[in-house]
Amino acid sequence: MRRARNSTRNGPASMTAPKKRTAILISGRGSNMKSLVEAARRPDYPAEIVVVISNRPDAAGIAWAKEQGIPAIAMDHKLYSDRAHFESQLHGILTTSRVDLVCLAGFMRLMTPEFVALWRDRMLNIHPALLPAFKGLDTHARALATGVKFAGCTVHLVRPEMDEGPILGQAAVPVLPGDTEPDLAARVLAAEHQLYPRILELFARGQIAIDGNKTSSPSDVNETWAKFSPQV
Ligand code: GRF
Repeated sequence: MRRARNSTRNGPASMTAPKKRTAILISGRGSNMKSLVEAARRPDYPAEIVVVISNRPDAAGIAWAKEQGIPAIAMDHKLYSDRAHFESQLHGILTTSRVDLVCLAGFMRLMTPEFVALWRDRMLNIHPALLPAFKGLDTHARALATGVKFAGCTVHLVRPEMDEGPILGQAAVPVLPGDTEPDLAARVLAAEHQLYPRILELFARGQIAIDGNKTSSPSDVNETWAKFSPQV
């Protein structure tokens, strides 16, 4: 059959939106980075990982990214005179790499309000707690000490205040009797590895609406269940 003049070999697929060019910033192990890289291998995933940057040259995640053939750059923050100098170099790399979105994944460096403003609503972070509870470090130890029955993780947009910003998604896990800090950290981390790729997918597709501090997505839970501990 002859093709009509304007049809293409690929049909509607040729009209899909370009993938969002995404940078991942890490400081260490990089397990969340791996989960994003692995998700982005799916042909239909709306983001591609174009560069991984670490502020620590010895970050294990940098070596792994290089093995995967992903451009991976170590920017030792200690070699910069101040935060602004470090960030101007970082911004330069991001713009040269034509980055659309930045995912912080265990990036242990506070950013200036000026840098955050440059990437406003284009920079995501994952935090190992159900924000706004347990901002900052040692979240699991504090959750255990506080006696909460549920812990979890949050992906949010980055704002100048640490661990602030519109919440794009959360995952909750139970705190089990006898949990140690490593037990809880491992349970939360497993949830992080599922949550972050899913949120990046929704966000990159433009499926998360932002209204001030509130966000909404067609994939939001819309059931009226509750989880209980102790059970009722
Ligand atoms: C994760 O728990 C993340 O939530 C927090 O730092 C940790 C980084 O772990 N921001 P990894 O480097 O991704 O393995």
